[in-house]
Amino acid sequence: MINILNQAEFAQRREALLAQLADNSAVVIKSAPMVNRNSDVDYLFRQDSNFYYFTGFNEPDALILLKKTATGIEYHMFCQPRNKEMEIWFGYRAGEEGVREQYQVDYSYSNEQYAEKMPELLNGLDHLYFHWENDSLSEQVQTWLAAMRKRSRQGVIPPSQLLQLANITNEMRLIKSPAEQDLMRQASQISAQAHVKAIQACKPGVMEYQLDSHLQHHFSMNACPQAAYPSIVGSGKNCCILHYIENDQPLSDGDLVLIDAGAEYQYYAGDITRTFPVNGKYSEEQGLIYNLVLKANIECIEMVKPGTNWNAIHDHAVLVLTQGLVDLGLLQGDVTHLIEQEAYREFFMHKLGHWLGMDVHDVGDYKVDGQWRDLQAGMVMTVEPGIYIAVDNMQVEARWRGIGVRIEDDVLVTENGCEVMTSDVPKSIAEIEALMAASTR
Ligand code: GLY
Ligand code: MN
Ligand code: MN
Repeated sequence: MINILNQAEFAQRREALLAQLADNSAVVIKSAPMVNRNSDVDYLFRQDSNFYYFTGFNEPDALILLKKTATGIEYHMFCQPRNKEMEIWFGYRAGEEGVREQYQVDYSYSNEQYAEKMPELLNGLDHLYFHWENDSLSEQVQTWLAAMRKRSRQGVIPPSQLLQLANITNEMRLIKSPAEQDLMRQASQISAQAHVKAIQACKPGVMEYQLDSHLQHHFSMNACPQAAYPSIVGSGKNCCILHYIENDQPLSDGDLVLIDAGAEYQYYAGDITRTFPVNGKYSEEQGLIYNLVLKANIECIEMVKPGTNWNAIHDHAVLVLTQGLVDLGLLQGDVTHLIEQEAYREFFMHKLGHWLGMDVHDVGDYKVDGQWRDLQAGMVMTVEPGIYIAVDNMQVEARWRGIGVRIEDDVLVTENGCEVMTSDVPKSIAEIEALMAASTR
């Protein structure tokens, strides 16, 4: 991948991280490994989000160590060494020299030198920060510390405090810088245009995976060779399977299609859902459910601004959807009581949204000190209410069964409100029907 961000952005992030560390400490962050798919075939490489966030470096099998001591700041990197044979088969490697020249690294080593160098680099530090959720790194850290303890008689002192790096990095990644916001706008817009293409290509008889191919084609043609996650293209009762990715059924006249898909642009995810009729016209029941979900989507987006409580928006979606389900006769009883009983969960079983960024379900706590947190400018979240009526739900009339609708947008919290970054893909019934009628399907 050709990096668009310049090195100054990554340097600023490292500086901001270092500023939050205790004195006499180090941070280690590890790259993603290559992962085998089958036999001699590996999965496409995708860099670890934290590693990329602080380095801009796209190669596997690397590790950085940032040191903050009384003598100053140091940036160390272990990486794959240059190797003519390996590069003939698998491509260019920056190597120790390349990472110093291109990535602002101060000291570089081959990744064959961990055992020799790490105990030396960590000697005498008080604190070591790393991502505890990274199992292979956690194991490596223990190996280095054990090797250091064995050399205590030679005066080697391992860091005595191991700290969870995610406590700092998750909060950093939660607030997107102006450069990140630009990349996320791109990811959202490319994703939105891809949805338009798929909607235009929809007609009875087309396979779900063929709609997926329209999405993927548009992603690739716009500098996003990889999607942010496997596209969900479900029709008919598959609309009710939240993470359906088989995508192997034909589209039937009279059914809905739910597409939940997003491009990954420069490591940032789009995440959009639209639900539309295979034949271009919503049936009465489909339209009623659709408009209810749309009302929740629109009203929840209107609430997105600094100071709004994260969970208040979810609660509003629950209120709108429960009231609507009662009005349509799908739930019976008093709305307040039904909400207390969580009766809506049969139809709306996920949260209203999630943080969005380098990971589609991005990092960042939803509660701080036990309380749901308030939104701040620079956060990006999805707003994705849905109603899913199981095909075997015998509590409702047959005409409703198997209808599943989700409408998902990507929303940036701004100083005064919010910016819907995915507004290029239509979402009212009139707009979607007009788009489908105008296409040359
Ligand atoms: N695409 C997964 C989600 O919307 O959470
Ligand atoms: Mn989502
Ligand atoms: Mn989604």
